[in-house]
Amino acid sequence: MRIGILGTGSLATALATGWSRAGHHITVGGRSPDKATALADTVGGHVRPVPDVAADADAVLLAVSWSGVPDMLRAAGPLDGVPLIDPTNAVDHGVGVLHASPAEHIAATVPGAHVVKAFHLFPSGVWTDPRDSTVTVVMCGDDQRALSVVGTLVTDVGGAPVVLGGLARARQLEEVAGFVIGLAFSGVDPRSAVPSAP
Ligand SMILES: NC(=O)c1ccc[n+]([C@@H]2O[C@H](COP(=O)([O-])OP(=O)(O)OC[C@H]3O[C@@H](n4cnc5c(N)ncnc54)[C@H](OP(=O)(O)O)[C@@H]3O)[C@@H](O)[C@H]2O)c1
Repeated sequence: MRIGILGTGSLATALATGWSRAGHHITVGGRSPDKATALADTVGGHVRPVPDVAADADAVLLAVSWSGVPDMLRAAGPLDGVPLIDPTNAVDHGVGVLHASPAEHIAATVPGAHVVKAFHLFPSGVWTDPRDSTVTVVMCGDDQRALSVVGTLVTDVGGAPVVLGGLARARQLEEVAGFVIGLAFSGVDPRSAVPSAP
């Protein structure tokens, strides 16, 4: 697939690395052209200005800080018809209080995009480290094709995709992030917080 990555931080790097290893084509856009170039070079991908990242993408990852989501969505444009992966968390790390539902906000901001909540529960390193157990990636979304595309991308980084339900249930998943991150801060393996997929 052709995957657009919006953002150049830890999660963008980890998933771009994993998807590149799986044979996907990566296009990176970020507010810092230097960081976008560095990430693209690292994964053997390409750089584009943010408004062009979704142009011919099969899926786009919105890997920016919650506070940067409005700016990035404004720059990225309408994203109509694009499976848009939302891994963002608007929680206080270590405390777990959810300040807003990112998925609801994103879906309202770019209503033409097919938002899929996914990849928000576990530390980014999970997606590049070989492990002896499969990570369950619970997803929410309203578009079946987008869920199928993202499910493939979950599998390609060693995860097991499971659909909880439509985007109206994303808030339940986002609350789980506060719980899981809180456990991780206490030294508990965060993978143990989510049931294993069959
Ligand atoms: N890292 C993880 O383990 C993990 C796991 C699950 C979910 N997440 C979620 O994934 C998202 C990214 O996390 P991360 O750890 O990759 O963060 P990060 O390493 O701090 O990177 C944040 C990214 O957001 C960009 N950004 C911030 N404000 C922006 C703005 N106003 N306009 C455009 N871009 C902006 C940053 O650009 P600059 O570099 O130019 O500042 C950077 O590319 C977050 O929402 C986080 O909650 C992260």
